[in-house]
Parts: sequence; C-alpha cells; structure tokens
Amino acid sequence: MKRYTITAALPYTNGPLHIGHLSGVYIPADIYARYLRLCGKDVVFICGSDEHGVAISIKASKEKTTPQSIIDKYDRIIRKSFKSFGISFDNYSRTSRQIHYETASNFFKKLNSKNEFIEMTTDQLFDKTSNKFLADRFVIGTCPICSNKDSYGDQCEKCGSSLNAIDLINPKSTLSDESPVLKKTKHWYLPLNKYENFIRDWILDNHKNDWKVNVYGQVKSWIEDGLKPRAVTRDLDWGIPVPTKEGEGKVLYVWFDAPIGYISSTKEWARDNKKNWEDYWKNDKTELVHFIGKDNIVFHCIIFPSMLKAHGGYILPTNVPANEFLNLEGQKISTSKNWAVWIHKYLEDFPNKEDVMRYVLTANMPETKDSDFTWKDFQNKNNNELVAIYGNFVNRVIVLINKYYMGEIPTPGPYTNEDQEIINSIKDIRNKISLNIEKFRFRESNSEMINIARIGNKYLADNEPWKKIKNNPDRTETILFISIQIVSALAYISEPFLPFTSLKLKGILRVNKQIEWKEILNFNIIQSGHKINKESFLFEKIDDGEIRSQYYKLEKTKK
Ligand code: 2FM
Ligand code: ZN
Repeated sequence: MKRYTITAALPYTNGPLHIGHLSGVYIPADIYARYLRLCGKDVVFICGSDEHGVAISIKASKEKTTPQSIIDKYDRIIRKSFKSFGISFDNYSRTSRQIHYETASNFFKKLNSKNEFIEMTTDQLFDKTSNKFLADRFVIGTCPICSNKDSYGDQCEKCGSSLNAIDLINPKSTLSDESPVLKKTKHWYLPLNKYENFIRDWILDNHKNDWKVNVYGQVKSWIEDGLKPRAVTRDLDWGIPVPTKEGEGKVLYVWFDAPIGYISSTKEWARDNKKNWEDYWKNDKTELVHFIGKDNIVFHCIIFPSMLKAHGGYILPTNVPANEFLNLEGQKISTSKNWAVWIHKYLEDFPNKEDVMRYVLTANMPETKDSDFTWKDFQNKNNNELVAIYGNFVNRVIVLINKYYMGEIPTPGPYTNEDQEIINSIKDIRNKISLNIEKFRFRESNSEMINIARIGNKYLADNEPWKKIKNNPDRTETILFISIQIVSALAYISEPFLPFTSLKLKGILRVNKQIEWKEILNFNIIQSGHKINKESFLFEKIDDGEIRSQYYKLEKTKK
C-alpha cells in the first residue's frame, strides 16, 4: 500500500487563524489527505504549532505577558479552529513539547558532529538600550532588493526576499526604535552553497513538469542568484537552546527547528499509535508532500532539504505544492491592520457553515496567482451553487422518493442510452476529480464535484419523473433509482471537500459503508428496498443583511 507523509505548515502561535491560512495551506492539504485515505492509501497528515521565533516574543511584549502564555493562548484557539473546520490532521503537536526539543537538538548535534556547520564570529546588529541582539523581526529597515521601507530582518514581505538583518538599509530596533550598533557574536551556519548542485539536480533538472510553476520558478531564481551560508542559531532568549557548550545563551533559529517539527509530530503520532515513524520519513517509497504558502518556499525547497541531506537517511519531498496569497476585498490580508476574516469569529457568526467557507475558499483558491475573497462572492457561491445546485438536486430526489415510495428505493427497469450516458459521465467526473486532486488542482476538482449535481438536475429536468408517475411508473422508478445513485456518489465524492455535508447526506441516505473511491458508482452503496430518511435540508440561503453586517464589521474593526 502506498504511503504518504503529508505536512501542512506549522502556524505561528502569535495570533489566530484567518481565511488566508485556510485557503493557502490547510484546506488543500486536507482535501488531499482525505482523498488519499478514501483511495485506501496509508496516510499520515501532520501539523502542529510553531511556537518559537521573534514574532512570539514581540506579541508577548505587546500584550505585556510571557511568550509561554501567548503560545498557550493561541495554540488553544488555533487547535479549536482546525478541529471545527474539519482539518483532519492525524497529529497536531507543538514545538514547545519535549519530544520536539529532543528531536531538534539531536538533529543539530548530528549535523555539528558531522562538521556540516561553519562556525563564524561576525558583526550583528545590537540594540544598546534593550541590551539585545536584533535578529529577524526585532529589526526593520529598507529592503536592499526592492527598497520596501518596512522590511523585517529575515524576510521582506513585499518582494519575498529572504535577508540577513545586517543587509537592511537604515535598520531600526523594533524594541526601542533606536538605530542599532554592530557587535561581534558567534553563530552556526549551514553552508547552503554546498547544496547548490544537489538542489539543481534534484529540483531544476527533475521537477520542471510535475512541480507547480510558481514553486519551480522561485527555486530557479534562488539558485541563479547563488546560495550563501545561512545562520541557524540566534542570540535570543526564546527558543530551543543550542545544544553545545559554546552555544550557551543562544537558541536555534526558528526556521531550523520548525520544519523538524514535522518529524517530531510524526514521532509523537507513531508513539501513540504503535507505528514506526521512520517508515514515514526514511523509506524511499514514501511520498512526502509539504503544503505551504508561497512565503515558505525557500525554507521547504532549499533549506530544509539541505538540512535533511546533511543529516542523511531522510527522504526528500516529492512535491511542495505552495499556493499564492488570498486577498480580502481587494486588499492584502493583514493581522496588524486587522484586515482579515478570523476563523473563530466566522464560526460564531455562521455556526454550522464550515463547509460553506471550505467551498468558497476552494473555489477561489490562489493556486497559480493571488486571488480575492469577497463577502458578495461568498453569498453568491452559497446561494447560487450550494443551495441552488447541490442542495436543490439532493432535495428533489429525496422528496420524490419519499413522496412516491415512502422513502424506499425503487427497483429500476432497463436503462435507456441516456441513463447509461449519465452514469458514464458521473464516472468520468469522478476520474477527473482524482486526476485534478493528484495534480494539486483543487479549484477544478471542486467545480467538477458541483457538476455532478448539475448533471443530476439536468437529468431530472429532462426526464420529468413527476410527469411519468401515473402513465409510466416503471420509468419513474428507474429515473429515481439512478438519481439516488448520483446522490449517493455525491455524498462520497464530496467528503474531501465538504466533510460535514458528506456526513449529513450519508445520514439522510442512511448509509455508513466505508467504501473506496474507485467503488463509488458501483451502485452498491444504496440498493432497491433500502429506506432513506425524510429530512433533506443541507444548505440555506444567506441574505443581504448577513453580508452587510460582515462588511460593517470589517470596516469598523480596521486599524
Ligand atoms: O510562516 C509560518 O507561518 C511558519 N510558522 C511556517 C512554518 S512551516 C514549518 F517549517 F514548520
Ligand atoms: Zn524587498
């Protein structure tokens, strides 16, 4: 049985989740994991909270509390949001756990003992007022690449370049607003230049056709610019201590320990489920797939693979299907400007509408370029697609079977050519959905799912079983038998996309068979004589007032 290790970027616990996180990373990863499970594959779907890094220290000082209380607070909120949205992780860990400390420390020690690091003492930015070295987000300044005035020390969010704090023009401390001075300090560097050929051979020469263009393109430009050694330690007081005598008082760079979090989360899961974690990380038949946003490409395609290579024994990702960004009402989602739709807030305003958001975010997923979420589009997709197409088709079939046969599935007569064509076209769609999911084209597969209901509606409209019930009852039985097979196919095919709806629909159909993806439409889910339930309500209309109040809320809370 084919084995898959699927990872989704570990979210920082310095704030709650918003729709951009879901559409960029977690929904595509969840659709992929659910689909592969339905195909009977051996899947482990891994994530956890990313609890180190300067962003957390900054948040703690803003809220006048400790980093520990910040990570505890947001870990709780994030965990709950994932659960509510049906993101089906097999394990959701935390990088503050013991198992991760051990795994990350041992990883560092191994590289150190293999002399894979360069130790260098260099000038770094130092804030005399706060008596601290200024790493990463503790310093902002002008990006040397694109001249953005608000670039962070480690990354410019405007042009996406990954930087060293020392390269910023006019650096300013975010702690004291002072201009920093230079002070010597020693750090451990991973000589990425050593891995240039390896990355070129592995990605540029081999993955031009099966990796996404945006991902391939970023890797290519990194390699063309030439890779340089990169520090994997920091002078900070929040993080995993550097596990060597000389490293006392220093911590691992968050981007060194975070991806190792995928490994420690897998170990935790394996320990709790009596599995061997190495099967999922060290067996070259296992497919490793990292779901991330575009700002994480360099870390997952260059730095982490170089770390894995330096360590030895690990597999490399077979694909890194990074998404672009989702905007909100035409503007960049921004935590600091409070321009976001927060997941935990959405669930308060729209209880039981997880699938509506999943659907809209998938239909609009920023797969190849940035895309835009608008509340108007949310309402339209709900009312015109989920309610008018999916819900309407299911409802018509359930109501008719209840009306004519007291909910008992009729026995079909011979199929006409048209019946057979309909069945074949649904099978084609199922196959198209498979192909699209396997190629990480989730928008397309989501719209193919809706096409099933569209075809079902057309079949009913063309055949008008309600007109035949008196004069041609046999034909009505066949039409409704085929229709209910389409409904049951929809219930199973929807599972990766709309897990709550799928469950509800299976409840209405009174089916709980675990069937594999390829068996869908074998007509053995629902047989003649089976009794279904009456209730057929799946989606409800969203009115203008609800949408207006969301616009109002956005504008009112904007900073
Ligand atoms: O960009 C982020 O939100 C990071 N916390 C992602 C980490 S992914 C992984 F490597 F852990
Ligand atoms: Zn820049």
